[in-house]
Amino acid sequence: MIPRRHILAALALGGVAASGAQAQSDTIKIGVIVPMTGQQASTGRQIDAAIKLWMAQSGGKAGGKKVEILIKDDGGVADTSRRLAQELVVNDKVVALAGFGLTPIALATAPIATQSKTPMVVTAAATSIITEASPYILRTSFTLPQVSVGLAEWAAKNKIRKVVTLVADYGPGNDAEKYFAERFLLNGGTVADKLRTPLRAPDFAPVLQKVRDLAPDALFVFLPSGQGAQFMKQFGERGLDKAGIRLLATGDVTDDDQLADMGDVALGVVTSHHYSAAHPSPMNKKFVADFQAMNKFRPNFMAVGAWDGMRLIFKGLDTTKGAGGDALLAAMKGQIFESPRGSILIDAQSRDIVQDVYIRKVERVNGQLYNVEFDVQKAVKDPGKLK
Ligand code: PHB
Repeated sequence: MIPRRHILAALALGGVAASGAQAQSDTIKIGVIVPMTGQQASTGRQIDAAIKLWMAQSGGKAGGKKVEILIKDDGGVADTSRRLAQELVVNDKVVALAGFGLTPIALATAPIATQSKTPMVVTAAATSIITEASPYILRTSFTLPQVSVGLAEWAAKNKIRKVVTLVADYGPGNDAEKYFAERFLLNGGTVADKLRTPLRAPDFAPVLQKVRDLAPDALFVFLPSGQGAQFMKQFGERGLDKAGIRLLATGDVTDDDQLADMGDVALGVVTSHHYSAAHPSPMNKKFVADFQAMNKFRPNFMAVGAWDGMRLIFKGLDTTKGAGGDALLAAMKGQIFESPRGSILIDAQSRDIVQDVYIRKVERVNGQLYNVEFDVQKAVKDPGKLK
């Protein structure tokens, strides 16, 4: 006969083994793919910092389980993102993918989300079409049509008759150019020229010279986050501000990540966007304070997109008790919540974000440059989906 104490010991061991196995399945993983190196590295740095803040605030738990975040650097290269997504899905069995710093990267990874039925939360890239690339994509960033139309309205109402547009020559730039120009023309304005610069290593001097020669009332600009400081410097060096050419831009150009170091040339620049670190809500004040307590830089719109993306996934996992796939996708569709930027909705049909868009002006506040909001359009849907 087996002595009773041996049975008890075996049971205890079994118990340990079982809870060990349970500990394994009690951890769920989220794969985050972002550019931490290369031209878009500021996007990765902001997203990484925002996710660390979210993990500290949430205790790193969702649906009663421990959540592990696997952050991978794609260097801004689409092939690398696609390979990393494949590894995260197949080897790490992540319940969701998130991040995606550039449109070509989000588009290249979309088929992996579809094939593996893994929800993919785009927290950064902003071309309208992205959410249509996979039924598993949801977005917590913004779209360029969403923020460009309101600025065109503002320009037309503020004595601006002739503009030139200047955009980075790829998805979001094409969207910004098209939707700004269409709305501006509809309001009786003229577009003297549509200029484009390459996504990689742009030199703004030749196009700025052209803008000077065309002498419009204003120049409308979209450049991806990270290029704004260099652009503003060259805008000032070429004397466009002194020549009386107003600068209008999407908030990507006066990005909170770089704005503090742009100098006086940025003063008075009017932009439209969904997030400013100066947004005066109590929730945002706390968000910025908590973020800055952990980091030496301010949060920008990439940080807020990522923080909200984590919140979207965690709330979804709370509903599914940690399950991924179609259940998680369903639990994320239609979510409404308060963000540091204002109220947001993840539209259940389009899976895209509906949010307020602010018109802002760069001002000095307590000695530092900020995008100060002075007008708002409420609950803007992506106009790219309405056609
Ligand atoms: C994009 O590639 O979709 C993108 C990147 C940076 C931005 C906006 C859009 O600031």
